[in-house]
Amino acid sequence: MASLKSSPAWKALKAHHKEISGARMRDLFADEPKRFERLSLGLGGLFLDYSKNLITADTLSLLLDLARETEVEGWRDRMFAGEPINTTEGRAALHVALRRPQGSGSVALDGRDIMPAVLASRDKIRKTAEDIRSGTWTGATGDAIQAVIHIGTGGSHLGPEMVCESLRPLGASGPKVRFVSNVDGVQIAAALEDLKPETTLFIVASKTFTTEETITNARTAKNWLIDALGDEAVAKHFIAVSGNAGVVADFGITADNTFDLWDWVGGRYSVWSAIGLPIAIALGPDAFDDLLAGAHDMDNHFKDAPLESNLPVILGLIGVWNIDFLGAQALAILPYDEGLRGLPNYIRQLEMESNGKALNREGAPVEAGTATVVFGDPGTRGQHAFYQALHQGRQLIACDFIAPMESRDKTGSHHDRLLANFFAQSEALMKGRNKDEAEAVMEAQGVPAKDRPGQLAHRVFEGNRPTNSIMVEKFDAFTLGQLIALYEHKVFVQSVIWGINPFDQWGVEWGKELATQVLAELDNGGDVKGASASTQGLIKRYRAHKAKKT
Ligand code: F6P
Repeated sequence: MASLKSSPAWKALKAHHKEISGARMRDLFADEPKRFERLSLGLGGLFLDYSKNLITADTLSLLLDLARETEVEGWRDRMFAGEPINTTEGRAALHVALRRPQGSGSVALDGRDIMPAVLASRDKIRKTAEDIRSGTWTGATGDAIQAVIHIGTGGSHLGPEMVCESLRPLGASGPKVRFVSNVDGVQIAAALEDLKPETTLFIVASKTFTTEETITNARTAKNWLIDALGDEAVAKHFIAVSGNAGVVADFGITADNTFDLWDWVGGRYSVWSAIGLPIAIALGPDAFDDLLAGAHDMDNHFKDAPLESNLPVILGLIGVWNIDFLGAQALAILPYDEGLRGLPNYIRQLEMESNGKALNREGAPVEAGTATVVFGDPGTRGQHAFYQALHQGRQLIACDFIAPMESRDKTGSHHDRLLANFFAQSEALMKGRNKDEAEAVMEAQGVPAKDRPGQLAHRVFEGNRPTNSIMVEKFDAFTLGQLIALYEHKVFVQSVIWGINPFDQWGVEWGKELATQVLAELDNGGDVKGASASTQGLIKRYRAHKAKKT
């Protein structure tokens, strides 16, 4: 790959940044009354306002040149065509195939059409969800299932948990669906404490079926069931979602109760596969199909829309501008919707596990980017936790504000208040407040004259802080599918520009391997070979404490 920073588009952006570094968004709005209309895009019920960014028409034009120069469209087409763009693992990344509708034709991979298997899995998801929801699926004692425990972690849990949490109507009928994703035994104990083995079903979701946390929890669940109902009960109370059928069978889950996961689906891109089974169980199979349809709608938009009106491309380019030219060190995902409280963590894995890399596809150091820290909380709660840093911190933190125009709130009076904060925060971050305005505020608040000099500087807000505002008509399964796919493709656009592979995650392997070594030594009392004095010292203290307690 040619050097990114010596490319004409990058150099032009660098020069342009120098030209506009003193610009203020306030002035850009004052100088261009149609700025909002020019810098916003819609797709069905989803609307993106990106006008509160420190960009001009020239900025956008130069960013689009960068997208063309780094062949964003070419790489996009290669992804959709199933080429092995996961370069270090020699795999395709075909999560887009998982949401293609019935009858939409074939998707060839290594000379065979993968769609029959995808559609068969989707049919099995539907049938399984219907059988569980209707009581047709019964446990070892003939009782209907009243609770489903999904055991998985990372991409094998964040998606279904976030979707179920955000779309499960209050007081919904059907089985309880709970998620266990941490090896801390407190979590699975809490999940099981009020349940009966006779009416509880477990889904063990793990692409590799070797993730220590997941398998440990699965074993605990299995023992809990067998202690009550005997070995034979496993066949009626366990489902597996995995790409490792052999290890699944060794665990004792039947082939009939096993859903396949393919190696061309990355973990953090797998909610559209049988990993999403809890969604179909909790919300009904039609809702799961609507989620797929929303994502497919965004896929078509990403594939067909011209770059300048392409939502994932625009969002990706603005992120590159914020990170590489304005120096943004974090991205806050701020959903003004309590149901979407899981969205920031979902997008966090998507962004940071995909693009949190320092090497490009060829294994050489990346010259620019890459993923910043991604975090967030639902509004308005986040306002009382970290917005001080957003408004007056030294680190520049870009923000994505997200809100539905229609609320599921039944009180009727709260939504306007929620949205008033949604509108106000991005305005305040953009506009800031100068000294004269700060003086006026202190005057209006009756701040004693003697106190004003000491407070003035602290009441000034620099502003010019970049934000995107995404407004949707309402959060239903289709819209949520659009939104998730929007971020998947945004992350992909950025990976292409930075020249990295977003579909592998070697960085998580080392920690996992070392944890396995430490666990082995904890079990047999030996030293962790080659571990530092710090780690040895910590383990020694732990062992001494354990010895005292036994
Ligand atoms: O975090 C690393 C990772 O491999 C994720 O990419 C994946 O979603 C998660 O662990 C769980 O992996 P598995 O589905 O194989 O248990």
